[in-house]
Amino acid sequence: AAKRARMVVANWKMFGNLALCRESLPLLAKAADVSVELVVCPPAPYLGEVGRLANRSGVHYGAQDVAEVTHGARTGEWSADMLAELGCRYAIVGHSERRDRHRECNQTVAVKAAMCIAAGVIPIVCVGETMEDRESGKTEVVLAEQLKAILQRMQKKAVFVLAYEPVWAIGTGLAATPEMAQDVHAFLRHQLALFVPAWGDSVTILYGGSVKADNAASLFAMPDIDGGLIGGASLNVLDLLSIYRSA
Ligand code: G3P
Repeated sequence: AAKRARMVVANWKMFGNLALCRESLPLLAKAADVSVELVVCPPAPYLGEVGRLANRSGVHYGAQDVAEVTHGARTGEWSADMLAELGCRYAIVGHSERRDRHRECNQTVAVKAAMCIAAGVIPIVCVGETMEDRESGKTEVVLAEQLKAILQRMQKKAVFVLAYEPVWAIGTGLAATPEMAQDVHAFLRHQLALFVPAWGDSVTILYGGSVKADNAASLFAMPDIDGGLIGGASLNVLDLLSIYRSA
């Protein structure tokens, strides 16, 4: 496989508490190895604590979202600069839960990714089709559209991570098969290469959607899958460590 960064990213969503931060970070710090990045994305109120606990360990951390602007009268939002100041290496943008519940469109997601890059935070940009899209044969059209909006705004030198999260696989226990996910990842690489040839090989693409300790290894063994974005299973530190070791 190409020399791409491999990583396992824990997306705690709106779960967890200080106790989970304090229990899990030391265990994760012990396990983190340079060959595969381990990233924790807790709810924003815990980023300071996670940052302190992760300090000087190999564990990276990030936010689950970011604002579309650098500053302003935006109650309840935070900027990419604030994340950078807290030591966040990453921010998830365009998660399907935000696209769905907060009506974030492709343009919004693209702007958020650009804000991250400008602040020195690496965006983990999520794309994914719904079951309806898949059943009507529109998976590739939908993904190409999502990707195009984002890549059009990206400078050639930008560093970003892509996450393929089929909406039907999120929180359902129904993960994509390794073959299905591999097919989509190969398609995404092809699309990336249309924008910048080097991106096809250089961009890390994670799979997300019902990754568990028992299916992670088979997904991560696929040539175009560079790791995972983990929801539910990331709240159990032993499961997360087992998934991490599979990468
Ligand atoms: O961002 C991770 C995610 O949406 C997948 O969630 O619970 O299916 O692992 P889950």
